Amino acid sequence: MTQTPFAKVAPAGRPGEIVAGFLAPHPPHLVYAENPPQNEPRSRGGWEVLRWAYEHCRRRIKELSPDVILVHSPHWQTVVGHHVLATPRLEGRSVDPIFPHLFRYDYGMDIDVELAGAIVEECFAAGLESRPMRNPKFRVDYGTIVSLHLLNPGWDIPVVGISANNSPYFYDDKVGQEEMTRLGHATARAIAKTGRRAVLVASNSLSHLHFSEEPNPALPEDMSREHVFSHAQYEWDVRVINLLREGNLEEFFRILPEFCLEAFAEIKAGGLTWMLEAMGRPSYGAKLHGYGNVIGTGNAVMEWSRP
Ligand SMILES: [Fe+2]
Repeated sequence: MTQTPFAKVAPAGRPGEIVAGFLAPHPPHLVYAENPPQNEPRSRGGWEVLRWAYEHCRRRIKELSPDVILVHSPHWQTVVGHHVLATPRLEGRSVDPIFPHLFRYDYGMDIDVELAGAIVEECFAAGLESRPMRNPKFRVDYGTIVSLHLLNPGWDIPVVGISANNSPYFYDDKVGQEEMTRLGHATARAIAKTGRRAVLVASNSLSHLHFSEEPNPALPEDMSREHVFSHAQYEWDVRVINLLREGNLEEFFRILPEFCLEAFAEIKAGGLTWMLEAMGRPSYGAKLHGYGNVIGTGNAVMEWSRP
């Protein structure tokens, strides 16, 4: 297998470190509700609890002042291997395929190409299939864009995007999650090698069953119509959130396959496993910034940073 050419040695005196991780769900409704200049549709607001939660994360990221934000998104699906955004600048208009009336967003992001290359190299070294995405006209998926906007709307920090390799799901959940463990470790080694102070982002909802129709098409942000999809889904989310708040990752990983099956949890795409494994399975609990529903899905905004 050929090696990518662009990994370099870490600058002296800058040890690589993951300074925080965030569970950062990406319903486009949250961007729509905020009315940023980049998004064309206008709203009257909505889903404030989740958007207030993201305000805490924004402040935290400003405090941490990382070199780079890495995001794993379930909506950049690759069948063969783990692909990594690796071209210096990506710009374009992103239109949500399910909610084009809510999300037509003009994005522009700078990519940390050196770190992207190092991740690809570390994947190869770990026996994982991986490719750098060097197409300068590549259209970034809306999951990556929404999570990054909600965490850092100024887009003034370079990013690295990592695809969701779906092929593990042709086998079983266990195989898929084990592969995400190896991807997490490879990512951590690349961060150490390049000396970056990095924030990791798992771009995922929790329970992911949702209404099949918009409750009020005339006013998508009608909060009188927003609620949990079912009490069973709510109970699953609460169970998982409490385990993560307690730092009980052993039990979390034990019930993860069942959670994915019963709640159609979006974390089945592996982003949260990738992040927690890259961080060395933190023994401290996560901070819950907020929980809320979007068209019935369960969304938790959570932070892992050393107490
Ligand atoms: Fe999604």
